[in-house]
Amino acid sequence: MPPLGRLLRTALILGAVPLLVQLVLLLTEEVSTRSAILAMLAVSLMALGLAWFWLVNMARLSAALQAAAADDDAFSRPFRTPRLPAVADIEEALTRLARSLQARSALVGRLRAADEAIVENLPDPLLVLAEDRSALRANRAARQLFGLKSGAGGDLAALLRHPALSGAVERALAEQTAQGTDLHLPVPVARELHAQAIPMNPPLADGGRVVVVLSDRSQMRAVERMRADFVANASHELRTPLASLIGFIETLRGPAQDDAEARERFLGIMATQGERMRMLIDDLLSLSRIELSEHQPPQGETDVAELLRAEAVALEPLAKGTRIEIAAPPSLLASPADTEQLAQVLRNLLENALRHGKTEGLVRASLTRVTGGGPRLPNRPGILLAISDDGPGIPREHIPRLTERFYRVEQGRGRGTGGTGLGLAIVKHIVNRHRGQLIIESEPGQGATFKVWLPGD
Ligand SMILES: Nc1ncnc2c1ncn2[C@@H]1O[C@H](COP(=O)(O)OP(=O)(O)O)[C@@H](O)[C@H]1O
Ligand SMILES: [Mg+2]
Repeated sequence: MPPLGRLLRTALILGAVPLLVQLVLLLTEEVSTRSAILAMLAVSLMALGLAWFWLVNMARLSAALQAAAADDDAFSRPFRTPRLPAVADIEEALTRLARSLQARSALVGRLRAADEAIVENLPDPLLVLAEDRSALRANRAARQLFGLKSGAGGDLAALLRHPALSGAVERALAEQTAQGTDLHLPVPVARELHAQAIPMNPPLADGGRVVVVLSDRSQMRAVERMRADFVANASHELRTPLASLIGFIETLRGPAQDDAEARERFLGIMATQGERMRMLIDDLLSLSRIELSEHQPPQGETDVAELLRAEAVALEPLAKGTRIEIAAPPSLLASPADTEQLAQVLRNLLENALRHGKTEGLVRASLTRVTGGGPRLPNRPGILLAISDDGPGIPREHIPRLTERFYRVEQGRGRGTGGTGLGLAIVKHIVNRHRGQLIIESEPGQGATFKVWLPGD
């Protein structure tokens, strides 16, 4: 029901002209008093009715407008009061407008959510800095990097104060171009980061002025250092026998020229050193070949039980009284598998067991079919090789590093006993290529067990 004051005012506007006409007619006595008063009454009632009708329609329209502005669906309620045809048209147009506005704002919401999801899930840490250089936002990778629950704080403050980064941010803002810089963060763990400061012009909707994209280069730097170390180690390993060879050649040319007995002895040592260099080069070449093919899985299948027996027989001359006991079914297939590479695995592990086991001791080699699961084993059917010796075992702290190139538990012992220090690195790469798993177990004083899980049936 429209307010009374408004109703009367509207009725007055509607009825003013006909009422005035009636009044003039009455005053000029053109019509009888009675009919004039009746006509004026009729006009007043009509005006009141029209005003009511008009105001109710207008109220309805303004409700529709408010609903559209407030993004509210209440407007689709059925119309109870009769409508003026023009008002009905406008109302329908308004309903359509409200719907399309709603659809558009839903679309904008979805687009924003998509943008946020992209930024949030980017693998690289990303920060948004405000005008005052404080962090407005940090995506998930950044929060992980800086150990944040949400928002900013913690190590992030230290990062933002880093002179290299703040310099890059200032340059980016001054020059309005992206600026990169390398950072070294010593705490809490040493990290090498590359930061890229990208100015936002115009500023982002949330007031962000600079986006900082970080990439953690620690891993890459570690790989670079490892490569450099590898070259240094390889050269060092080759230089030792080479120096010894050169030394003996000098001696044989000079002081020992006429000493037949010494010559014989020196030539023996030279042959050993030459053999050692050959072994090293063979292992280096084989390692680089395996590394090259590591990303493509092998093809074919291998009867590992048969291979194990063959390798054990081939190593007998090296065993010096140690017995190799084999517990394996007549045949057990690994697939996909590369026979030559698996032979290399068996040779290396058996050789190590023989070399580090007791003299006249016992090396046990077993081969079993596993259906999947089990501690530290993949949840697929496969075969499990285990080679155990009765040697001194390996102290726990060395176990994770055994597969590094040239890593030896006792620097002197390995070299003295003729290993290259590359055997387990080769084993590891071959097992990786076969999508298998290498597990090393040892209790000091109780020998060591090397297990290899391979896919098979
Ligand atoms: N069965 C084992 N018992 C004790 N130590 C072992 C055994 N196998 C390997 N190791 C240790 O792991 C090191 C690396 O082995 P490997 O890579 O085969 O090199 P290499 O045998 O040429 O020294 C060895 O030097 C040795 O210290
Ligand atoms: Mg070895």
